Amino acid sequence: MKGVIFSEMIRWVEECLSPAVADRMITGANLPNEGSYTSVGSYPHQEALAMMGQLVEITGRPAHDLCHDYGYWLATRFVQLYPQMFNGYTDALTLLRDIDNKHNTEVVKLYPDARTPAIIASVDGEDLVISYASHRPFADVAWGLVHGYIAYCGQTAQYIVTRDETTPGPHAARFVINRA
Ligand code: HEM
Repeated sequence: MKGVIFSEMIRWVEECLSPAVADRMITGANLPNEGSYTSVGSYPHQEALAMMGQLVEITGRPAHDLCHDYGYWLATRFVQLYPQMFNGYTDALTLLRDIDNKHNTEVVKLYPDARTPAIIASVDGEDLVISYASHRPFADVAWGLVHGYIAYCGQTAQYIVTRDETTPGPHAARFVINRA
């Protein structure tokens, strides 16, 4: 997985918890590179799971909450990192519909060896359904990203997002979005 996902995870912990917690997380996870990731490098996603495991121990919070919070934070961080990808979007649903295309074109242009997850949008009656599928187990991060983009567009009060709990995680998920 691309280093940007790891380095931003460390940044999230530094900003939202503390630099000391980030240090403990990195040390406890026994990372081969001691937490120095370059955004274009590729690293085993198990290293992110090892950091998350440490964070569960340090904070006492469940992994699914922590992953969601990371995804939520990452949504606006992506806007800072890649502003050109967000030009002209005012509606979260329009943006979310375009993510698979962005992953497969703009993200792959930046990181040619990226293996992005499938983020497929489909209309089901009045609902928009966003499906996540990946060989990596990050459905909770995707859940946070969906909430994060709705918040970024200032539409938290406008849309209700429900997660289809019948979909077995963490490699797949379905998020159903409808008007409040
Ligand atoms: C324009 C906005 C976005 C950008 C720039 C972006 C970019 C990226 C990049 C660079 C990666 C790393 C790929 C790799 O390591 O091979 C990634 C992975 C990922 N993306 Fe996105 N992404 C965006 C939006 C989203 C959204 C809205 C979702 C969820 C609905 C999402 C879900 C994920 C997840 C969960 C991963 C982790 C890898 C995996 O699960 O397979 N992304 N994204």
